[in-house]
Amino acid sequence: MPIHALALAAAALLGSPLAVAANCSIDLVSDDLMRFDKTSVTVDASCPQVTINLSHSGRLPAAAMGHNVVIAATGDWQAAAQDGIKGGLAGDYVMAGDDRIIAHTAIIGGGQTTSVSFPGSALSTGTPYTFFCSFPGHWSVMKGELVVR
Ligand code: CU
Repeated sequence: MPIHALALAAAALLGSPLAVAANCSIDLVSDDLMRFDKTSVTVDASCPQVTINLSHSGRLPAAAMGHNVVIAATGDWQAAAQDGIKGGLAGDYVMAGDDRIIAHTAIIGGGQTTSVSFPGSALSTGTPYTFFCSFPGHWSVMKGELVVR
C-alpha cells in the first residue's frame, strides 16, 4: 500500500479533518448548456458545516445563463423553485424568507465561482433532499439528489 493511502486510512480511523472534509462539501460545476456535472451528491451527517462550491465553466453572463445551487427537502423543492422567480436576479431567484430553502448560493455567470456554508445540523439522515438551480426555466433540468449519510 502506498504511503499516502496509509496516511488517508490512518486519518479516516482517527476521524481527522482530512477525512471529514471529503464528505462535507458539495462541489458542482455548471455550464452554458444548463447542466450540473453531477446528479447526485453525498455529505456526512456528522459535518459541523457543509460547504457548497459552485463554478460556472461557461461564458454567458448571469442575466442570461445564471446558475445557483439551492437545497431543499425533496418534498418542498418544486414549490420553492416555482416561488424563486419572486426573488428576481438580485435576490438570487430565491423568495425572501422562504423557510423551505435550507441553503443557497448566489447566482453566478460564466467564469465565476461562489461558495456558501451552512450548519450540518440543518440536514438529517433519512430525509431525501434535492439540489437545484432556481434560475427561471432551469430547475426542471438542473437538479439532483443530495444524500445525507
Ligand atoms: Cu441555472
